[in-house]
Amino acid sequence: MEKFNENGYVILPGFLPSSLVRRLTPEVDHWVDTGLRERSIDACSSPEHAPPSVVELQMEAHGELAAHTPLLELLREDRLLGPAFVFHHLHSDRRPPGGSGKSWHHDYEQRPQRDREHPMIHALHYIGGLRPEMGSLAVLPGSHRQVAEKDAWSHLGTAEQPGEALIDELPPGSTVLLHSALFHTRRAARGPVKDGRARYMIDASYCRTGTLWPPVKPYWRMVLSVGRERGLGQGRWPELFADRHFSEYVRTARGVPE
Ligand SMILES: [Fe+2]
Repeated sequence: MEKFNENGYVILPGFLPSSLVRRLTPEVDHWVDTGLRERSIDACSSPEHAPPSVVELQMEAHGELAAHTPLLELLREDRLLGPAFVFHHLHSDRRPPGGSGKSWHHDYEQRPQRDREHPMIHALHYIGGLRPEMGSLAVLPGSHRQVAEKDAWSHLGTAEQPGEALIDELPPGSTVLLHSALFHTRRAARGPVKDGRARYMIDASYCRTGTLWPPVKPYWRMVLSVGRERGLGQGRWPELFADRHFSEYVRTARGVPE
């Protein structure tokens, strides 16, 4: 954790308990196979699409993951978010082995990008672990200190960059914490995809309070209200699902999960 501020990321192999991992996997399958994931994306891409009838936090284990006590206790450290932070969003996905890549980008929410005074952190949970044939994660250590638009490096594609750190082997239930402004890329899968396993990844993000954060989903209030109604803050984290830390939703051209 000492190097988080310097590098902008930390790897937590096998961070999630296997009992939680076992319950999350069928929920991800349900989310993807029933079309709920697609509907949640559609609702972000066009005002003509209604909000989804269900959001991720309503699924039992997904809600628990969003407010997983060991994770929140780590985030509250001063060198991470500090004592007061709010849940921003959660995406759940399953990608087939041999999936495509995603160009270099970052996910820090600020429009326009102007400073890095308030940290935002993405927790990338690799439920089934990570292997090269699932598509690896590469990050550029220290790049979170640059102030740049999210897609400022998109011209680089997914190409290897000097000084990058490649993360492609993780056991099930591993978590990578990224400062959301850290540039990263998902490499296209390599190696034999035959007998390969799907990549189960749930990402959840959190922000230090003290500024107004732009929401990324038009139905963001519904997501936060689910967190409150389920009591996921356990009385310990009163700001975790509080609306007052957000500005109004503005639709972006992209409008789809990262
Ligand atoms: Fe990303």
